[in-house]
Amino acid sequence: MKKVFGVFGDPIGHSLSPLMHNAAFSALALDCAYHAFRVRPEKLEKAVLGAEAMGFGGVNLTVPLKEKALELDCIEPDPLAKKIGAVNTLVFREEGEGGRKIRGYNTDGLGAKQALLDFAVEIKGSKILIVGAGGAARAIGFRFVEDGAEVIIANRTEKKAIALAGDIAGTMPEGRIRGTGLSGLDTLVREADVLINATTLGMYPNLNTSIVDAGALHPDLAVFDIVYNPLQTKLLKDAEAAGAKAVSGAMMLVYQGAEAFRLWTGIEPPVELMKKTVLEALGT
Ligand code: ATR
Repeated sequence: MKKVFGVFGDPIGHSLSPLMHNAAFSALALDCAYHAFRVRPEKLEKAVLGAEAMGFGGVNLTVPLKEKALELDCIEPDPLAKKIGAVNTLVFREEGEGGRKIRGYNTDGLGAKQALLDFAVEIKGSKILIVGAGGAARAIGFRFVEDGAEVIIANRTEKKAIALAGDIAGTMPEGRIRGTGLSGLDTLVREADVLINATTLGMYPNLNTSIVDAGALHPDLAVFDIVYNPLQTKLLKDAEAAGAKAVSGAMMLVYQGAEAFRLWTGIEPPVELMKKTVLEALGT
């Protein structure tokens, strides 16, 4: 019988995950199907328990459900997801007498890491500047501090950057992290090895905005933009013009999905096909 997988969120109509995972399932001849489900936060628990009861193979959670998942007793978050305070992948594991445990993971930070590794960007010991202090910045920040980077979180609302840096430092006292506002951003960019835009700036329809002055970008920098609509944001165009490495947020989408696929199936996903599928969908 076909195994069903899904992504829960609201809104969910534009999710690329069904296309990406179904392409992977069919390339590997797995008898599986992946669908998008519109689930409101107040219905999340019922939806998760329903999916478990119906024998789903696995579930992704997206906006606005990732944080909500931590409030549910039925989900056991892994230590990293618990620290981040958000779950994007649910795994239903057979455990004990007929019982299935629902485990929650967060693969977003790993997705960002893999996207950078593709461009031969070193994480350990690098100076990583993350602009933004929302959910994406959180997942990425925890991951990179754990991987031994020196992380600065810069955010328009400075106190949110300081609070996030404090949260991360609280769970990883040996880590190197601090939070700040945007006033000294150009200088921070000049001193950074990696710049990550974790804000919504530059997203369609605001095509001509970027969080950073093009003049501050430099050839020794890797620039990663979590925005992937459009694929070529102003920030990434400016990065290329400055001779910097330009890494698309579409790769984070692919790699967080690839990691979820591994957790669900134990099988190595066809990552190149998943990339091609996502890039084609975004290009049209
Ligand atoms: P997500 O959870 O997906 O990361 P979010 O929580 O809405 O999204 O976070 C959006 C981030 O983009 C925030 O850090 C926000 O800054 P504030 O905390 O000051 O609101 C940042 N952001 C959004 N619009 C921005 C703008 N015009 N200039 C600078 N930062 C902006």
